[in-house]
Amino acid sequence: MNAADRVMQSYGRCCASSDFFDDFYQNFLASSPQIREKFANTDMTAQKQLLRQGILNLVLYARGMPDTKLRALGCSHARDALDIRPELYELWLDSLLRTIRIHDRAWDEQTGVAWREVLTKGINLIKSYY
Ligand code: HEM
Repeated sequence: MNAADRVMQSYGRCCASSDFFDDFYQNFLASSPQIREKFANTDMTAQKQLLRQGILNLVLYARGMPDTKLRALGCSHARDALDIRPELYELWLDSLLRTIRIHDRAWDEQTGVAWREVLTKGINLIKSYY
């Protein structure tokens, strides 16, 4: 199975696991005061729904979907908009991988490697718009 298919299946298991998005944001917000500051005025219930789609877009991009959605994310997260510094994506990725490891009941090392590969591709595109 290729990395993108492996990740798609893992993501299905994560989304079916209750509290997956709650746990992700708990991890992510705990990772730095800079992150907490960015989300100080955010409706986190709405944000969790937006992230559900955002991660799907990263996975679909790795499966060959056009980069339109990720370019839009690149623009919304850029310096003159949300101003998300490129190094913050490291914290995002680490928080997400830690959360997946707990919520994917079929997780193994290969799943972790596949996620990192798939997400890095899309994250690099988003960061390139900073
Ligand atoms: C908003 C996805 C990384 C902070 C959003 C939205 C999506 C999203 C879908 C809502 C739509 C939009 O504004 O474009 C993602 C994905 C990421 C990522 C897929 C990783 C590849 C980050 C990082 C930060 C961050 C590293 C750092 C703090 C924010 C903030 C908002 C936002 C502050 C606006 C929240 C509000 O409306 O108050 N993100 N994001 N994002 N994101 Fe991200």
